[in-house]
Amino acid sequence: MTRKRLVVANWKMYLESADGAKEYARALKRKMKGLTGVEVAIAAPAPFISEVAAILESTPVRIGAQTVSGYTGAHTGEMSAAMARSVGADFAIIGHSERRALLRQGYEGQAFEPKINEQVHRELVQAASAGLMPVLCVGELAHSEDGAHVAFVAEQLRSALVGAQSLAGKLVVAYEPVWAIGKTASDAMKPAEVREMVIFIRKTLADILDRKLALKVPVLYGGSVEPDNARGLIEEGDVAGFLVGHASADVATFFEIVSQCKK
Ligand code: PGA
Repeated sequence: MTRKRLVVANWKMYLESADGAKEYARALKRKMKGLTGVEVAIAAPAPFISEVAAILESTPVRIGAQTVSGYTGAHTGEMSAAMARSVGADFAIIGHSERRALLRQGYEGQAFEPKINEQVHRELVQAASAGLMPVLCVGELAHSEDGAHVAFVAEQLRSALVGAQSLAGKLVVAYEPVWAIGKTASDAMKPAEVREMVIFIRKTLADILDRKLALKVPVLYGGSVEPDNARGLIEEGDVAGFLVGHASADVATFFEIVSQCKK
């Protein structure tokens, strides 16, 4: 693949003040000078998008939202995709497992996965129609010997992308096995297993989308990516980049991962 690798920082709620977010953005701006061969993006919490986007405006760093509403109109407390776009976001994480988990709580004991997938689809459609590039997160809750986890991921992809085939050229998929999130490098998925899942995701995308376009969808890996395992995962895992959580909370650590992804 000739396309540059993409490394997305998922700040989650790690940076709790606007001052901290601005300081990070300024430090990243300094580090970006002279960096080539890799694309960098930050998924910032909603209140920080605008200021972080302003600081990084003159750099190639892309700024995005961590989620957007699946709705428009009167929904107190939600952030619409259009709002995120208007303050400088150009992508949005859609269907992150931590957001799916919140929805799952509400559906305890019911057949909830289809409902969650439906909600993720709504958010994806909203993001795309506002001109935000969706970074669609999929990933199994646990690995299962009988392969049920593979079917789970396929269904997440299918239901999110139903009727959204035309998006293929603008879509990024992030494969994040939930069991590997928020741990340490040694708990992350092993590169060979990542590679297998990426092949599976590519095949599934080719079934859902136009085959040629599906090949253009970058498939990222996320789940305990740290400087210690980044190189192995990117080279042997055959991923197009990373979605980095806890290791993105510190700008120096994040930049170390970014540097390892240069081609
Ligand atoms: P982690 O998070 O790197 O802390 O595992 C990844 C993510 O949830 O996107």
